[in-house]
Amino acid sequence: MCRKFFVGGNWKCNGTIEEVKKIVTTLNEAEVPSEDVVEVVVSPPFVFLPFVKSLLRSDFQVAAQNSWVRKGGAFTGEISAEMLVNLGVPWVILGHSERRALLNETNEFVGDKVAYALSQGLKVIACVGETLEQRESGSTVAVVAAQTKAIADKVSNWAHIVLAYEPVWAIGTGKVATPAQAQEVHFELRKWLHDNAGAEVAASTRIIYGGSVNGANCKELAAQPDVDGFLVGGASLKPEFIDIIKSAT
Ligand code: G3P
Repeated sequence: MCRKFFVGGNWKCNGTIEEVKKIVTTLNEAEVPSEDVVEVVVSPPFVFLPFVKSLLRSDFQVAAQNSWVRKGGAFTGEISAEMLVNLGVPWVILGHSERRALLNETNEFVGDKVAYALSQGLKVIACVGETLEQRESGSTVAVVAAQTKAIADKVSNWAHIVLAYEPVWAIGTGKVATPAQAQEVHFELRKWLHDNAGAEVAASTRIIYGGSVNGANCKELAAQPDVDGFLVGGASLKPEFIDIIKSAT
């Protein structure tokens, strides 16, 4: 089963209108492999989403960095999946470790968010990952399996889900997982999908790595058999994001 390489750029809570214009110009001018080879999705903060979508080259897509767990209404400050669909935003990142840690988003809440976003027609980058303490205690696979199970308990169709493994200890730290560490967890996640969601889901679901990916380390990571791409944070705001897109195998 061929899984199209996937490169996401999570801009997080960054940017001014001037900086966003510069980033989009860099992206629009870049020579990159065709959409047949790599799927590129950039995720600006909500306030820049329509603007970026209006300027971005047609072979790249946009994602929101979150969406509300149910239909919109009296939920001050939230952005609903319906709003994103109405704006023509096709993707949403859900369950990012920063939201799990800072906003106490539980595994079940993330599972509900993924199910609702899919039900409204969004495609989802669903994030899982262990903390350093969990890795050092040997519970990495148990933790990411539980996070994935909480999604699988609410979702039957995985066709529009990309699973992002982002070890918390590698996010924003410069301490990228080694290719072997990434491959090991990606293999275990694919095995979990095989055993719990079926062989077809396991074979077709892209499992991407996030956590201090940059232009220098992306090639070796991309060469791992179960690494189907990246979810890039800091480096997605820099020209080296183009090098990461070019690492598509
Ligand atoms: O969602 C991607 C992000 O968490 C990774 O961040 O800055 O380590 O690439 P960074």
